[in-house]
Amino acid sequence: MQINETMNEAFNRQITMELQAAHNYLAMGAWLECSGFSGMSMWMQAQSVEETTHAMKFYQFVLDRGGRVNLGLLEAPPSEFDSVVDVFETALAQERDVSTAINDLYGLATAERDFASTPLLDWFVTEQIEEEATFSQILDDLALADGSPQAMLFLDREFGARGTAE
Ligand SMILES: [Fe+2]
Ligand SMILES: [Fe+2]
Repeated sequence: MQINETMNEAFNRQITMELQAAHNYLAMGAWLECSGFSGMSMWMQAQSVEETTHAMKFYQFVLDRGGRVNLGLLEAPPSEFDSVVDVFETALAQERDVSTAINDLYGLATAERDFASTPLLDWFVTEQIEEEATFSQILDDLALADGSPQAMLFLDREFGARGTAE
């Protein structure tokens, strides 16, 4: 079923939001590397790539349904952070905003009786639960580490292993 104008615009906004997330994670990755956390930087760069794949899922979906892809402007991401905790708190806040946007998109699809969008949006609902859980877990680990150099080094190595595994 061809996508209607309302859903097409909403999906275009979501594509831009996912690309903005990718952009923001890239900036966080650079800050982490400069701050001596190369493992966390690799992990964050992998996270950025994942956000681009999210954007591409919506992108292809719009095209498959005969819609038009109009990309929006991206904002320059913040490049300075107070701490590693600040980075991951910012990331979690971003993931929560994305979850809200996906929820709103689902609501709109239902209102528009655009049930062809439901399977894709179901995937994103599940993905967002995972994303929020991942960042919450990282913040728990960082709280436990409490800035101890040994613990931070251990965490950075662990992140590095995950970054290369993905
Ligand atoms: Fe995403
Ligand atoms: Fe995400």
